Amino acid sequence: MTDDQGTWHEAAALSALNEGEPYGIEIGRHHIALYRVGNEYYATSNICTHAEALLSDGILDGCEIECPLHMGRFDIRTGEALTSPVEIDIRTYPVRVAGDRLEVCLPA
Ligand code: FES
Repeated sequence: MTDDQGTWHEAAALSALNEGEPYGIEIGRHHIALYRVGNEYYATSNICTHAEALLSDGILDGCEIECPLHMGRFDIRTGEALTSPVEIDIRTYPVRVAGDRLEVCLPA
């Protein structure tokens, strides 16, 4: 389904998304990291803007993901680069729950 934001894609079963455990997926050319914080879900690019490490291999601390390579941090709600050495924000994507699945909206 497509709307003004982009196209909604099935991303993962909710049962696969555990608190504090980033989950990496690929949809077409998009590398996406999914996160569960309590009953909230978030999606960001999975590629660190510093040197392209996979954020899904990093450590989720509340709403901050720490890159596994040089420990830069991003806010998964906004994508904001929070700590050195990261300076460029990561992209975030809208998500929604559909039954027992999480969907993510990607640009068309
Ligand atoms: Fe992520 Fe360097 S690759 S902080």
